[in-house]
Amino acid sequence: MCGIVGYIGKRDAAPLLLEGLQRLEYRGYDSAGVAVAGKSGALRTVKAKGRVRELDDRLPKRFTGTTGIAHTRWATHGAPSDENAHPHLDAEGQVALVHNGIIDNAADLRAKLVADGVEFASETDSEVVAHLIGRSSADTLEAKVREALAVVEGTYGIAVLHAAFPDRIVVARNGSPVVLGIGENEMFVASDVAALVRHTNQVVTLDDGEMATLKAGEYRTYTTEGSRTSAAPTTIEWAAESYDMAGHDTYMHKEICEQPDAVDRVLRGRIDDRFATVHLGGLGIDAREARGVRRVKILGCGSAYHAGQIGAQMIEELARIPADAEPASEFRYRNPVVDPDTLYIAVSQSGETYDTLAAVQELKRKGARVLGVVNVVGSAIARETDGGVYVHAGPEVCVVSTKCFTNTAVAFALLALHLGRVRDLSVADGRRIIEGLRRLPEQIAEILNGEDEIKRLAARYADAKSMMFVGRVRGYPVAREASLKLKEVSYVHAEAYPASELKHGPLALIEPEVPSVAIIPDDELLEKNRATLEEIKARSGRILAVGHRVHEIADDTVVVPRNEPELDPILLGVPLQLLAYHAALALGRDIDKPRNLAKSVTVE
Ligand code: AGP
Repeated sequence: MCGIVGYIGKRDAAPLLLEGLQRLEYRGYDSAGVAVAGKSGALRTVKAKGRVRELDDRLPKRFTGTTGIAHTRWATHGAPSDENAHPHLDAEGQVALVHNGIIDNAADLRAKLVADGVEFASETDSEVVAHLIGRSSADTLEAKVREALAVVEGTYGIAVLHAAFPDRIVVARNGSPVVLGIGENEMFVASDVAALVRHTNQVVTLDDGEMATLKAGEYRTYTTEGSRTSAAPTTIEWAAESYDMAGHDTYMHKEICEQPDAVDRVLRGRIDDRFATVHLGGLGIDAREARGVRRVKILGCGSAYHAGQIGAQMIEELARIPADAEPASEFRYRNPVVDPDTLYIAVSQSGETYDTLAAVQELKRKGARVLGVVNVVGSAIARETDGGVYVHAGPEVCVVSTKCFTNTAVAFALLALHLGRVRDLSVADGRRIIEGLRRLPEQIAEILNGEDEIKRLAARYADAKSMMFVGRVRGYPVAREASLKLKEVSYVHAEAYPASELKHGPLALIEPEVPSVAIIPDDELLEKNRATLEEIKARSGRILAVGHRVHEIADDTVVVPRNEPELDPILLGVPLQLLAYHAALALGRDIDKPRNLAKSVTVE
């Protein structure tokens, strides 16, 4: 979604705000803007449609002020334009506001304000809040913001400047992330630690319904009702340089190549050779509770959902517990029947995806036990759940998830092994899985070494009208994730189907211009999968097979190293990340910031 940044201290705010926006651009990048308060408090605002660099080019040479806020936008209400870019001002130009989220009752509030003579400068929902604050007669900025938020329904992460209160920034959070950065006689605020990590590693993450007042050398937090809160600072675990490109042309390529090290991190310190199991500190359920689990329901969105499907398969295979995955957005809207013997698991890289967070909140409201499989430490979903497993992928900046998807699948392998070994999974099988897990980093590195061949294949398939991805059982979630990867980064249409489903209709789509990617591990379904290749070939379909051996009938094959059958899906997906990457490169796409997308979707 959108990214907000704020600074108050002794340094000139504008350069720090622009740098922060660049760190947040993956959250939304169709327009940007900045407002600073001069010594007298007078506000100056510059906004620009397009990327942050357009905004930078538009800044006047002298744009000074040691207090400021800024915003990079992913449009929800109102097309990308200078006028719709944030910050938004009140009618008198005394209030500047940046907002991430959606104001559900914006239309009603806007109508009342217009009826009262207020003239709007934009089509956005956010501008309503700026006017409400500006029209408040309360005598402090905190009280003005509280008064405005009292009539607002929806989600927000906001930062507010007021010309009459130049010594402070007031921020508030409800559903959209707000993190305070504590500096030396200076304070920062942002939607994500990525914008803070160069300046401090001490942060305070606000909870829903929490506000804060930032001054040059201090901060205080309180609820929207005004009662003090005591949010303790935490330390960011990711070093500033982990956000750098590290010599790669794109974050996507960097993050694909980081996977051997990332998988090392998610395994580190968790394997127990003595009992052929794993230690998952912070899981939040003990062995007795784990034995009592009768079902597992995994919830997530996009790639997180697909990783959850791989996880459900592993849990069924290793722990023999019925398990399935469902899109979090579907789950929360179907008034789910919540079962006390079911273990619910929310999966999220950012830990801020609104649909997943709302599903967790619905489950908690109904008394369910919910764990999180999350990448960002201290994120909303990590804090809302009863425990869980951090996936330790490191910061994932590219909108397109790769290393975090893989680490999430490995985290589920660890969880499945843990659940299996408190039940009937044998020591021998536990050892077998552990040895397989230990082989993953070197096997991923081996796959990455074959990048040039995959690049050649990508050039051959990039011009496809559409692509069909098929797989059976363990291979099906791999097909789904690979299909999403291709779509979101190359804009080539793709579909994923269980291989067995092809003959029930989708086979009609097969023709030379619609090549198929078939996921074919050497497992118990090999012959069934080979029959699917025959079906496709008989309809003149081109085939790219991904498996453990060359399939003569396929036009091309990518061979990946074999691991344990339960872990093979982790490896089978890696070459397809590279396929999507190189197809997008061949098509000249904006790899790290694909059109229409944002990294963390913190609105519905
Ligand atoms: C991943 O490639 C996508 N950009 C997207 O589907 C993402 O996985 C989804 O929005 C969930 O995000 P989360 O993992 O941060 O919750």
